Amino acid sequence: MDVQIRRARTDEADVLTEIAHAAKRHWGYPESWIEHWQADLTITPEFIARNEMYVAMIDEEVVGCCALVLSAVLAELEHMWIRPQHMGTGVGRALFLHAQERAANLKISVLEISADPNAEGFYERMGARRIGEVQSEIEGQPRVLPRLSVDLG
Ligand SMILES: CC(C)(COP(=O)(O)OP(=O)(O)OC[C@H]1O[C@@H](n2cnc3c(N)ncnc32)[C@H](O)[C@@H]1OP(=O)(O)O)[C@@H](O)C(=O)NCCC(=O)NCCS
Repeated sequence: MDVQIRRARTDEADVLTEIAHAAKRHWGYPESWIEHWQADLTITPEFIARNEMYVAMIDEEVVGCCALVLSAVLAELEHMWIRPQHMGTGVGRALFLHAQERAANLKISVLEISADPNAEGFYERMGARRIGEVQSEIEGQPRVLPRLSVDLG
């Protein structure tokens, strides 16, 4: 399988939003939660224009994405979404390694992630470690998101 990584285009906002929804649904969350997260799962042309967003391509099809949101010393990894049919085939790894290398080339020392709890194992496999937790709430239930960090050296 040949995965190509390139910068996302602003006219890909709709397909990336569709992939974000499909990927999040893969964990089996109630549909009411998906609706609650509507804004978080929407990737706008403005977001793509403002940040370094990457897409993974297989045979001309967009199969995943991720974004680097950069500040002076820190990069936040956001919008890591893989099409369910392509999960478990190395697309996430390819995107993660690309983002990590790009951030390191920019002399950024730390990559941080507020992860979906189901994705924590993936990030740990990529070398991330837990540095804290982000507390949130959904439909009256507490929800804890792992806060993860990767040292870029
Ligand atoms: C989590 C996600 C990004 C991983 O991408 P992926 O393409 O499926 O992962 P890969 O196939 O590249 O896996 C790389 C390695 O991580 C492991 N891995 C993948 N997902 C994992 C998980 N959820 N838990 C533990 N390990 C995982 C794989 O087994 C593989 O390990 P190996 O090195 O032993 O082969 C993807 O499954 C996804 O989009 N999930 C739904 C949306 C989501 O939660 N995104 C993250 C938001 S913070």
